[in-house]
Amino acid sequence: MTETSGHRKIIIGCDHAAYRLKEILKNAMEEKGLTIIDAGTYTEASMDYPDIGKAVAGKVSSGEFERGVLLCGTGLGMSMVANKYPHVRAALCNDLFSAVMSRRHNNANILVLGGRVVGDILALEILRTWLETPFEGGRHQKRLDLFDEI
Ligand code: RB5
Repeated sequence: MTETSGHRKIIIGCDHAAYRLKEILKNAMEEKGLTIIDAGTYTEASMDYPDIGKAVAGKVSSGEFERGVLLCGTGLGMSMVANKYPHVRAALCNDLFSAVMSRRHNNANILVLGGRVVGDILALEILRTWLETPFEGGRHQKRLDLFDEI
């Protein structure tokens, strides 16, 4: 897993349904020299995903972190929570094409994955792709600027 666009510090969080996957993705990123801040959860005990979604999305929204990763069972709940925050563009990418396009066209700053949807190897590949794919800017930036009017 290489990393090309300067975002070397990443905040990651999950609920109990994706705890195992979070550990796998965290280790993979750390092995590649990225600094990972783990916002929890730290066990497989049942918990409420909005609490972790808020912790991660809040820090991306404020600019403290350029990029974040959120995981839950489907990825749906974490996406819904994260996208309530200004300046957060959280993309649920349980496939590679979405991961590429969420970066190229949407400049997604939070990757969301469903730990009960994707296998470990696919998740690693989606994460690697998402970290390495640049935003294309241009007409896509103009469209993202329109978000601020909402
Ligand atoms: C937990 O059972 C599950 O609801 C959660 O992980 C997530 O999939 C919510 O969207």
